[in-house]
Amino acid sequence: MSQIVGISLLGCGVVGSGVLKILELQQMEIERRTGLRLEVRHVVVRDPARVRDIPAAFPRDRIHGDADRAIDDPNVAIVVELIGGTTRARELIDRAICSGKHIVTANKSLLALAGPELFRLARERNSSISFEASCAGGIPIIDALLRGLSANRIDALIGIVNGTCNFILSKMTREKMGYAEALAEAQALGFAEADPTLDVSGRDAAQKLAVLSTLAFGVHVREEDIELCGIDGLAADDIRFAGEFGHVIKLLASASRSASGALRLRVSPTLVPQSDMLAQVSGSFNAVSVYGSSLGHAMFYGRGAGQLPTGSAVVADILSTATGVGPAMFRALKSFPDSAGPVRLEHADASESCFYIRLTVEDRPGVLAAVTDAFGRASISLRAVLQHESSSSDAVPVVILTHRCRTGALREAIRQINALPASRAAATCLPVLESPVEFA
Ligand code: HSE
Repeated sequence: MSQIVGISLLGCGVVGSGVLKILELQQMEIERRTGLRLEVRHVVVRDPARVRDIPAAFPRDRIHGDADRAIDDPNVAIVVELIGGTTRARELIDRAICSGKHIVTANKSLLALAGPELFRLARERNSSISFEASCAGGIPIIDALLRGLSANRIDALIGIVNGTCNFILSKMTREKMGYAEALAEAQALGFAEADPTLDVSGRDAAQKLAVLSTLAFGVHVREEDIELCGIDGLAADDIRFAGEFGHVIKLLASASRSASGALRLRVSPTLVPQSDMLAQVSGSFNAVSVYGSSLGHAMFYGRGAGQLPTGSAVVADILSTATGVGPAMFRALKSFPDSAGPVRLEHADASESCFYIRLTVEDRPGVLAAVTDAFGRASISLRAVLQHESSSSDAVPVVILTHRCRTGALREAIRQINALPASRAAATCLPVLESPVEFA
């Protein structure tokens, strides 16, 4: 006779529906493997009457709007928060923890904002919080960081962690599709956040990077510690020129440890060499490259968004909570935001990178000389320069790749170039990925 584990789902959008479908499909196999019968006793939604994409057999009287009833039910052991946002979701999680329930959540915004407080409360109340679905959809990267990679000092973590941005950039690169059209398609496919500006501004990726780098580096990283640039200002020209240099543009979330131990944290459209494995990650797929002191380079790849992939991570968390594995890890490990130390950040100007720069300048003698002079004075060496003839106007794009240089020096050179009388628009600067050499 299987033991029944009661579950309340708070929220039943794209991911919640996926959870119900997976639980129905996998019910027998889950029972065979664990001896547990997972029973969703409540699904709390704003509009219970709405028609939903959930299994036909799911009892409709369990769908209602009363969160208190769902949390207080003594037969519920696990509360799954899939509402998103940071206000109501936080109230309900606090309340569920105080009622002695274990929490499963996909809410990276809330974890990035209030991780330490939530985890501390859960520890005090002998509860636990599992959050695999908060980062990179169905990829078990959190489990890998907590367990599989625990023999390593992590030196760098570089990821494509926003499926919407990756989908848009892939469409713009491969199909020459416009930005707005690609975004609309990502929304229709259910990858995008309710508010897609969270995706395209890079904030969703920054929140995920905050969660992942806290676990990877053992320091508490907040969203505001991360240098941020989204894909919303990217021009189609940049995608084209990057291609001419043998690169593709990806929204990368990266965290790396400098020689002094300080962390460099950045989310930015980045030029990735076409030969790099990250360049092959397309559509809504995500990938996270981790560089560990013992393992070297490991890459985790899979679907980063969508109903069943994200549902897969939620159901894995429900199972590890129900079997006691998740709560035991939660008690045993000091890896969570409440026990992580303070972060020490590398000064933005001190960090080094190669850069892609697109200038818009007048097409007349001496302009290129003035531009290269500004780079020379900042001790920046150029790797490649590209200029096509302009057919329509007297302003032309000049595109440059630099060798590795200090970000502070680059800023100074760009300030001087933007101030040249021949400059027609502010320069676009993007980093170029170099895989950490010592572990390549
Ligand atoms: N909106 C997110 C993405 C999915 O596009 O990756 C959930 O994290």
